[in-house]
Amino acid sequence: MTVARPVVAVTRRMPERVLAALEASCEVVGGRDDTPATQDELAEMLVRADGILCTVTDSLPAALFGRVPPRARILANFGVGVNHIDLAAVRASGIRVSNTPDQLSEATADLTLGLMLMTLRRLGEGERRLRAGKWEGWGPTDFLGHDLYGRRLGLIGFGRIGQAVARRAALGFGMTVKFHTRTRWATDDVPPFVEQAESLEALLADSEIVSLHLPATPETRNLFDEPRLRLIPRGGWLINTARGTIVDEAALVRVLADGHLAGAGLDVFEREPVVTPELLAFPGVALLPHMGSATVAAREAMGMRAVANLLAFFAGQPLLDPVA
Ligand code: DGY
Repeated sequence: MTVARPVVAVTRRMPERVLAALEASCEVVGGRDDTPATQDELAEMLVRADGILCTVTDSLPAALFGRVPPRARILANFGVGVNHIDLAAVRASGIRVSNTPDQLSEATADLTLGLMLMTLRRLGEGERRLRAGKWEGWGPTDFLGHDLYGRRLGLIGFGRIGQAVARRAALGFGMTVKFHTRTRWATDDVPPFVEQAESLEALLADSEIVSLHLPATPETRNLFDEPRLRLIPRGGWLINTARGTIVDEAALVRVLADGHLAGAGLDVFEREPVVTPELLAFPGVALLPHMGSATVAAREAMGMRAVANLLAFFAGQPLLDPVA
């Protein structure tokens, strides 16, 4: 499809460089206001724009596509995860979808290690104490946490982000890293500093820290239910920078409450921006507001890549990152 000067609706505020790149060849609607779009506003965009630059906060369920025949032919998602878009409905409407893999792997991997440090080394607790004016000086038994060095880390999922975490953990922090994926890796392709586990269950039982790097799909919904969480040895930690729906948060609260898990580091939640209130009560739980890719460089790169996908589509070329 070739469109001369297409109309593109941008659902959230984007970095200026991204808007400028888009405005050079498209009519841009939005992109400077940062209030998440309502369902009615998204429906309006679907019928008025040729393409939409959307984000994880734009819920695009099947019902939206059935309302009126959409004019939009492409949804360029700013981010990797596309679980907020009903892909079957999109395909049925003949709309294409792209995402932005590769642009945020290193930033998200950094944050994953940051969450491990926050929970094992009690960084959040320490900072909260200091800011509350309750720090009375150094003490030999104050804030005792646990080393990352030498610990057994299990990565569930070994895509770009999982691999970037593995490099940092094994080569930078001296951790023993194993991973599990649904489809086994050919032995020769496995990087030398990691080991492939025999099964998900075996990996959970062998890990002190478990870090999730899976997409949100119907198959991974609540994959981490209570029995699976209890396979992690007592005193272990769960880190989630992937998607909240992979973990049953009520079950996580139970395994934290009886001390089976010592802590968790969470950047994503089942019902964002709502956080299960019980999680706030555990000092060993570090909670962040979905900031995995929140660096200047990563967010700009994500935006530029979404624009590149839109421009390729409107020029009648193949999408760089096709999802549907
Ligand atoms: C992603 O890319 O999926 C991030 O979580 C931001 O949406």
